[in-house]
Amino acid sequence: MTSWRVSSSAALPKWTREEFDSFNELKESNMAGRERKQTDTDKGIVIPDDWPGYPLALFTSPEHYCDDLDCVYIPHGVIMDRTERLARNIMDDLGDHDIVVLCVLKGGYQFCADLVDCIKVLCRHSNKTLPMRVDFIRLKSYLNDHSTQDLHIEGAENLSVLSGKAIVDTGKTMKTLLDHVQAFGPKMIKVAGLLVKRVPSGTGYLPDYVGFEIPNRFVVGYALDYNEYFRDLNHICVISERGKQKYKI
Ligand code: HPA
Ligand code: MG
Repeated sequence: MTSWRVSSSAALPKWTREEFDSFNELKESNMAGRERKQTDTDKGIVIPDDWPGYPLALFTSPEHYCDDLDCVYIPHGVIMDRTERLARNIMDDLGDHDIVVLCVLKGGYQFCADLVDCIKVLCRHSNKTLPMRVDFIRLKSYLNDHSTQDLHIEGAENLSVLSGKAIVDTGKTMKTLLDHVQAFGPKMIKVAGLLVKRVPSGTGYLPDYVGFEIPNRFVVGYALDYNEYFRDLNHICVISERGKQKYKI
């Protein structure tokens, strides 16, 4: 997952009246956004509980994982196409403002990099612009395929800007992260999450920009890991029993 914060005024050059008004409009629409009714696209592409994924043989994946995966759950091309659209939505909402992108490591690095790349392309091909600074934060709360109680946040000591993440399940990690980022007094925080899981114990937290809503299944690839393995896989896949046993700690 990836979150975005419009950087604090202290870090910005002085704004013109026009910029200030436009920022306030944006801020108001952001406040309203929290209360507004959900629309069909807020959850992104919704993958149903009975989605079996695609057979591995229909795509290519590294030979070293050939027995470790059950299926291709979301092909890399679909992730890229969806990310391109999220970038456009972000440009429409935040274009012409100055933001800090906070990439949530490690699982969010690929999504964050691709999202930033898409925004860069849009900036080159439109009249709007979105100056971005990029920072990184590291979270760790998973062992094997289970969430642990302990959430480690590393690298945020000098955080003077905004953030982003690849997966949201219960939403508890996200809440902790947002509380942490709030403490730095950003003017606004926006969150982009590639995947949101439908979990029974979820807080109902929904990022501002969502790629896909998926069933409560453990997935790997596209930088999402199982005990540090599978980050070097382009597609988002479901791990096999054999894969779980092989890389279990
Ligand atoms: N895969 C990898 N990391 C995760 C997941 C997942 O499904 N959920 C939370 N962290
Ligand atoms: Mg992990």
